[in-house]
Amino acid sequence: MDNHAGSATSLDSQQFIKKYGPWALVVGASHGLGAEFARQLAALGFNCALLSRRPAVLDELKQELQTNFGIEALVIGVDLMEPNAIETIVEQVGAREIGLLVFNAGAPPFTEHFLTASAAQWAGFVRMNTETVYHCCHHFGAQMVARKRGGIILVGSHAAFGGTKKLALYTATKGFILNLGESLWAEWQQHNVDVLNLVIGSTDTPTMRAHMAAHGMPIPDDLPTAQQIVPLGLDALGSVPTLVHPDDLDLAEGELSRGLQRRDHVLESTEISAKFIGD
Ligand SMILES: NC(=O)c1ccc[n+]([C@@H]2O[C@H](COP(=O)([O-])OP(=O)(O)OC[C@H]3O[C@@H](n4cnc5c(N)ncnc54)[C@H](OP(=O)(O)O)[C@@H]3O)[C@@H](O)[C@H]2O)c1
Repeated sequence: MDNHAGSATSLDSQQFIKKYGPWALVVGASHGLGAEFARQLAALGFNCALLSRRPAVLDELKQELQTNFGIEALVIGVDLMEPNAIETIVEQVGAREIGLLVFNAGAPPFTEHFLTASAAQWAGFVRMNTETVYHCCHHFGAQMVARKRGGIILVGSHAAFGGTKKLALYTATKGFILNLGESLWAEWQQHNVDVLNLVIGSTDTPTMRAHMAAHGMPIPDDLPTAQQIVPLGLDALGSVPTLVHPDDLDLAEGELSRGLQRRDHVLESTEISAKFIGD
């Protein structure tokens, strides 16, 4: 293995860059998992396009990555809840070759009952987690398919698996993302483009801390961290459509992981639907 200094993965960095480089676009890079993705990808030698609503914070990360890893970085300040977000992203990325898209942003702005916020207040969040996600997958995925190489990591949530009180639109939109990602995994395998749903549970991020603080809850000291989760996602890209953390770690002998169960479901339903709509 040829690890770059600072990388926490067991990846062969040259192979990884060859398949997914030279640029990674990290959507939601200003803190938590997104910032950690950027750090670990920069350590592998990726140039990083860093996106969030706070360009000043991203500028600091850009400096850090350039200094520590000698890579190029780009800051994109955009609100993903805005209807024209994709146009801004495409324009700012310009001709840079995005070989890896990490769509990380996606936590809800409020953890409240459905009726606590108005339908209009929820609209931006739903747009970010549906329209903006599929526009990014469509735009950058099309380029990857044309190049016959690339990868997409969609950071998902256990919320995708079913409805939950106070998380109605979060569960609904995370279900959308999970099904989108698994379908694209099935469609793009033949084009050498990998899609991974990195499905996680409660994780120690600034957003999670802010939500807990808003509800007067103490932060548990045993939450998984971004530093623990990100390398698992990078390692899993290209092997499964879905990795469920922590369920898919430390499986008993002979036990099929949830990710592999979901892969089998995707393959089976693809085969069945082909009898009706072709392949
Ligand atoms: N933390 C958890 O416990 C947990 C559990 C399960 C799943 N997840 C998933 O993990 C991912 C990351 O979650 P997180 O806890 O780090 O919180 P998050 O609020 O999704 O923040 C992640 C990043 O997204 C950016 N972002 C958020 N809203 C944005 C917007 N409207 N426009 C542009 N950028 C935006 C944030 O930057 P700015 O604020 O600077 O814009 C930040 O850099 C999400 O997809 C979430 O669903 C998290």
